[in-house]
Amino acid sequence: MSDPISVTSLRELQQQAGQEVALSGWLDAKRSSGKIAFLKVRTTGGVVQAVASRADLPEAGWADVERVTQESTVRVTGKVKEDKRAPGGVEVQLTGFAILALTEDYPITPKEHGTAFLMEHRHLWLRSSRQRAALRVRSEVEQAIRDFFYQRDFTLIDSPILTPAACEGTSTLFETDYFGDKAYLAQSGQLYLEPAAAALGKVYCFGPTFRAEKSKTRRHLMEFWMVEPEVAFLEFDGLCQLAQDFVVYLTGRVLERAKEELKVLERDTAKLEQILPPFPKITYTEAVKILNEAGNSITWGDDFGGDEETILASHFDRPVMVTRFPAVFKAFYMQPDPENPETVLGLDLLAPEGYGEIIGGSQRIHDHDLLLERIRQHDLPIEAFQWYLDVRKFGTFPHSGFGMGIERFVAWMCGLPHLRETIPYPRMLYKIYP
Ligand code: 4AD
Ligand code: MG
Repeated sequence: MSDPISVTSLRELQQQAGQEVALSGWLDAKRSSGKIAFLKVRTTGGVVQAVASRADLPEAGWADVERVTQESTVRVTGKVKEDKRAPGGVEVQLTGFAILALTEDYPITPKEHGTAFLMEHRHLWLRSSRQRAALRVRSEVEQAIRDFFYQRDFTLIDSPILTPAACEGTSTLFETDYFGDKAYLAQSGQLYLEPAAAALGKVYCFGPTFRAEKSKTRRHLMEFWMVEPEVAFLEFDGLCQLAQDFVVYLTGRVLERAKEELKVLERDTAKLEQILPPFPKITYTEAVKILNEAGNSITWGDDFGGDEETILASHFDRPVMVTRFPAVFKAFYMQPDPENPETVLGLDLLAPEGYGEIIGGSQRIHDHDLLLERIRQHDLPIEAFQWYLDVRKFGTFPHSGFGMGIERFVAWMCGLPHLRETIPYPRMLYKIYP
């Protein structure tokens, strides 16, 4: 008999029907009834069903089947058989089985565990089916983001993580020592993207961002990944269109390519299938009216919190664009609304089902003197922003951009109530282990 074909993923396995293969992985689960055992072996791409029968295995192989425990490392050898009922549509009928490393006392068992316990064991929790599914959806979203921008001629610009000044207000900065000077972990790559837009037109950055927000909500992380496009000559209406196209595209990709994962997560996909254009668009002023009518006591000039976002979003079956906010609580760089200079051309996109703000963006001030005035009004150190002002000095141009925190988007896609399960190692208030 010829040597078995070594395979390293479920997909490779699916291509070997009728062949003898060998595969290494981890034992996800075992069910046995005397002379026959059903083993689930985790590999790249999912879980492979392997059937061991005492009659087909050498004695040592069967002994290993009997003593193998959850999460032991194993190597299986056997014939691939198509089986519609098996996960992945194939099953391996074992002719060999070996334990490569026996696991004892694996802390996460199929019984219920509390979230605190699971978070302490995040490095192992990643192995469970729902966690794998969520991380696969995240990976698909990240790939779709890159494809969306690549197809539209954007250049990826990697913005710095160590920065000398704030972007989104000074209250949420992580401070660090930079050879005797103060430096901060980036809250956003935006300010660095704007000069790059003058160099390359359409650009985006995609990387980790940091907010030292002392909030413990299910929508906040200290470290999250943000994707931020910035587009030369794009004005406010075009920005709203871009945000809508982006969300429609990403949702479509998840529905198309993460079907199995959404099934594992028991996501109601009908809710995602209705994420189609056009998205409703209201002004901040209209939003305040809706909130007041719904019994919320917000007054014009107050920022929305999570509650307001949830009430607003519940009025719509798809994401709602809230626009034209009071300048008082928005960032210094936002372009004033020509129809009402008390407001700015800012956009927040609120996701349905209580997922809150998934996108925040604006048209940027491109007039040098106005920007300088806003920097002064916000009490920001002018020296630190000289380079940013230069963009308005040398060939200024209208431009707009937005940022999307991908954990909020992924949480919405997966139907997960908390952001902590959408990132491999969440950084939360006072929690940085493992
Ligand atoms: O609205 P934000 O603060 O906007 C900016 O940072 C702009 N500079 C972006 C830009 O225009 N280029 O943040 C943008 C998005 C939010 O809509 C939300 O999705 C996410 O980043 N976000 C968070 N996600 C998780 N945890 C947090 N603490 C977050 N803060 C913001
Ligand atoms: Mg925002």
